Amino acid sequence: MSKKLSVRDLDLKGRKVFCRVDFNVPLDGGEVADDNRINAALPTLHYLAEQGARTILASHLGRPRGKAKPELSLAPVARRLEEKLGRPVTFAEDCIGEPAKAAADSLSDGGFALLENLRFHPGEEANNEEFAAELAALADIYVNDAFGTAHRAHASTAGVPGILKPAAAGFLMHRELEELGKLTGSPESPFVAILGGAKVSDKITLIENLMPVVDTFIVGGAMAYTFLKSMVHPVGKSLIEGDKLSLAKALMQQAAEAGKRFMLPVDHVVTLGDDDTYRTTDNVDITGIEAGVDIGPKSVELFAPVLKSARTVLWNGPLGRFELDQFANGTRKIGEALAGSNAVSVVGGGDTASAVRKFGLADRMSHVSTGGGASLEFLSGLPLPGVDALGDA
Ligand code: 3PG
Repeated sequence: MSKKLSVRDLDLKGRKVFCRVDFNVPLDGGEVADDNRINAALPTLHYLAEQGARTILASHLGRPRGKAKPELSLAPVARRLEEKLGRPVTFAEDCIGEPAKAAADSLSDGGFALLENLRFHPGEEANNEEFAAELAALADIYVNDAFGTAHRAHASTAGVPGILKPAAAGFLMHRELEELGKLTGSPESPFVAILGGAKVSDKITLIENLMPVVDTFIVGGAMAYTFLKSMVHPVGKSLIEGDKLSLAKALMQQAAEAGKRFMLPVDHVVTLGDDDTYRTTDNVDITGIEAGVDIGPKSVELFAPVLKSARTVLWNGPLGRFELDQFANGTRKIGEALAGSNAVSVVGGGDTASAVRKFGLADRMSHVSTGGGASLEFLSGLPLPGVDALGDA
């Protein structure tokens, strides 16, 4: 990917900037429940203010499917953003039309407006031309700092930068591309990829794309049971993808032929029907009505030293149902092992990022991506329309 134009390359004084951010944050009782994505955009926003830009912020929140849904309003985000920026943020009750225009026109140098949820209009996800033109008409310049949404070819990520030039990347977008790019470029060896989460099908392209650079794959989470079953191990009632068994086997074969290590759990925490009845297995087999929900202590002992001697580690996907304390041990212990290693450690995926935050380990990782789907698609070698639409440096 060629290097993209940076917000630093722009002449911003007095200019209206359409700044796409990813403020798709969880809300609870009408308040922002997790403001990590807001914090991640602040360096760009502070810079825009310092340079005297008039910034019109735009984001989606949730999936309202083209209809205005009050519970998915960005108004609570505007309030939180005001606190974070320490300056007023004008909230426009629609992202196009008179409210948006009035908010944009009211800005003085260094000022901010936040437009209402872009996805209240069907034109956003459809990348509708007229809708994109209406958004573009609000500003003079385009900046995209929404790495988390870069895998979507929507009006605000692909349509508007086709109209508004120059179109540049914000600091967060740059940092994400740089940090994740290190993994697909020439990462220092040994390179270990820890993969977890529910489905093998979500990670096929990722495994294939990383195969040339990764030395060891460590697989946990529910997707491990599909791999184990493909090796004819009993997995009891564990979650598996029945139609992906031969593919799982083929991926392991591909790894073996390429001289890569492919490590699977050797024991598990299993439930016996409900979340309060559980035990640790002695070995890899899971039988009867039992279902795997976390990797066991022997697996942690097997995996942790591999992380210790690694120089580069990607972690995508939790190793168990870490949201419940009784099934969090595997994810926590692997997180701690990674935090204690000298490797460049990159965490991608929404759940994995939540896990490292929950265990207080985020600051000890080299990079925790703000992208879930976007980081997965980038590392899978897929194009990111939101990045491709930006001007080259
Ligand atoms: C995310 O949370 O991954 C991004 O904001 C994209 O959201 P989406 O999956 O609803 O497009």
